[in-house]
Amino acid sequence: MTVQRTLSIIKPDATNRNLTGRINTVFEENGLRIVAQKRIRLTIEQAKAFYKEHDGKPFFDGLVQFMASAPVVVQVLEGEDAIAQNRRLMGATDPSQAEEGTIRKMFALSKGENSVHGSDSETSAAREISFFFNALEITG
Ligand code: CMP
Repeated sequence: MTVQRTLSIIKPDATNRNLTGRINTVFEENGLRIVAQKRIRLTIEQAKAFYKEHDGKPFFDGLVQFMASAPVVVQVLEGEDAIAQNRRLMGATDPSQAEEGTIRKMFALSKGENSVHGSDSETSAAREISFFFNALEITG
C-alpha cells in the first residue's frame, strides 16, 4: 500500500442538493484527506476535454451537458491506496448496483446523475489532477 492522490468531482446533481459537506464527511471519515478543492462551473468545452475518452459513446453529449449544467467541486484526495479507496466509497456507476453505505447508493439519482467522479487508475489520476490543479494548489 502506498500513499496516492486521486481526482474527485462532486457533480451538479450533488451540488444542487447541497450535499458537498456530507460527501466530504464520507471521505474524511474513511482515510482520505482533501488536499485541494475548488468549486467551479465547467464550460461545455472543458467538460468535453475532461471526458474525451468517452467521446462517441451514446451518453457523451448528455454527460457533457450535465457536467456543465451547474457548479461542480473538484478536489484532490490523498491517502493510502486513495484511488481504489475512493472508488470503494463511491460505489458502482449505476446507483441501483451500488453497495449499501456508498456515496452513490446514498445520494445518486441515476447512472448519469451519479453525484461523484473518481479517477480509475494512476494514469488517469495524474492526467485528471493536472487538468484542474497546479502543484502550488495542492498541499497535504
Ligand atoms: P464517471 O465516473 O464520471 O465517468 C464517466 C461518466 O459517464 C460516469 O461517471 C457516468 O456518470 C456516465 N455514464 C457512464 N455510463 C453511462 C450511461 N450508460 N448512461 C449515462 N451516463 C453514463
